[in-house]
Amino acid sequence: MSFDRKALLRKAMEARKFSYAPFSRFHVGAALLSADGRIFTGCNIENSAYSPTLCAERCAVAKAVSEGVRNFVAIAVVGPENSQTTPCGVCRQVLYEFCDENLSVLCGGTDENYMETTLGALLPNGFRLS
Ligand code: THU
Repeated sequence: MSFDRKALLRKAMEARKFSYAPFSRFHVGAALLSADGRIFTGCNIENSAYSPTLCAERCAVAKAVSEGVRNFVAIAVVGPENSQTTPCGVCRQVLYEFCDENLSVLCGGTDENYMETTLGALLPNGFRLS
């Protein structure tokens, strides 16, 4: 799929600046590209009670879906610069609700240090009702 990978990764890196992660200190940003070319960003938002913590990817999905956007092409996720952070299992399932196996998933790092995969590779046989 043709899209500007570095631009999407840079948007995720910008969003990472807003990460609220005082407990894990693991700062994550995400940028979700919709089929109509819009980019929805997200960051992780932790909580003192731990379990309400929101991952960066689900933050981005919630922003898009709550604005009526449900068709996506790619998502970039960036954790710490020396990592290639991949979406957690819950986020994989949430992405699968709106995206098919072909969704491109860029896992960084930085816009230099990242690996590219697909939602289908990360979540084989994902669950859907019906
Ligand atoms: N986290 C994300 O935001 N996205 C991921 O893909 C992996 C994990 C967050 C959740 C928590 O705030 C911190 O990273 C450590 O797990």
